[in-house]
Amino acid sequence: MIETVDVIKSFNDKLVLKGISTVFEKGRTNLIIGQSGSGKTVLLKSLVGLHDVTSGEIFYDGRSFNKMGRKDRKALRQEIGMLFQGSALFDSMTVEENVRFPLDMLTNQSLEEKTARVNECLDRVKLENANRKLPSEVSGGMQKRVAIARAIALNPQYLFCDEPNSGLDPRTSIVIDELIHEITHEFNMTTIVNTHDMNSVMGIGEKIMFIYEGEKHWEGTKDEIVHVQNEQLEDFIFASKLFQKVRENSK
Ligand SMILES: Nc1ncnc2c1ncn2[C@@H]1O[C@H](COP(=O)(O)OP(=O)(O)O)[C@@H](O)[C@H]1O
Ligand SMILES: [Mg+2]
Repeated sequence: MIETVDVIKSFNDKLVLKGISTVFEKGRTNLIIGQSGSGKTVLLKSLVGLHDVTSGEIFYDGRSFNKMGRKDRKALRQEIGMLFQGSALFDSMTVEENVRFPLDMLTNQSLEEKTARVNECLDRVKLENANRKLPSEVSGGMQKRVAIARAIALNPQYLFCDEPNSGLDPRTSIVIDELIHEITHEFNMTTIVNTHDMNSVMGIGEKIMFIYEGEKHWEGTKDEIVHVQNEQLEDFIFASKLFQKVRENSK
């Protein structure tokens, strides 16, 4: 479980997050939705310490992230898996080397142990016989799977995904969403997914927070979202559906 209390983030005099208080639940896919520029990425990066918050507190299962020293933060990083925009794989490394990277960096395991773990993770995302390929030699959907395998290599308790479906066709998007949802339950992780895709919301939105211009406007479940009355959220849902229609028609 990750809790934020009145998180404010500004860059110079530009206020981006205007006091976000919420709880991201353990063992669930927690979605952050909102239009482009609403502050989703800034929030995710603030949670993992890639941005320093201006004020407010973040708790990882009760542990104050703000109050942690460098050593504790480094230890916490090992409990975090990240899947950031794009797949962010290393182009010159093979699939296997990409997945092994966090193990090389953060563990003292032998090559044998690491290879066994890499293969477990690649199996989990249903990627077989791809170990020796380069990212450029596999499809976009497969690259995402490699990135997921890498994100779970260290058995994280927390998984952060920023727009995991960007650049994927609708069918592959569903497969990736389902995979994220399954591993969240299987490993009882606290998973946070940024998205502006209503298909993802209705597919895996166990807990949803809608942010608008850096403020939390609504939170609830996918069953509740269909009944909600909030002008900005309704606009967001409408725009998303419209976008999907345009995308479907253009195929
Ligand atoms: N490093 C930065 N410096 C200044 N402004 C930033 C920085 N990163 C993001 N922003 C601004 O913060 C706002 C929210 O951005 P972002 O979190 O990327 O939105 P989203 O992910 O919801 O599309 C945008 O107006 C963006 O320009
Ligand atoms: Mg973003």
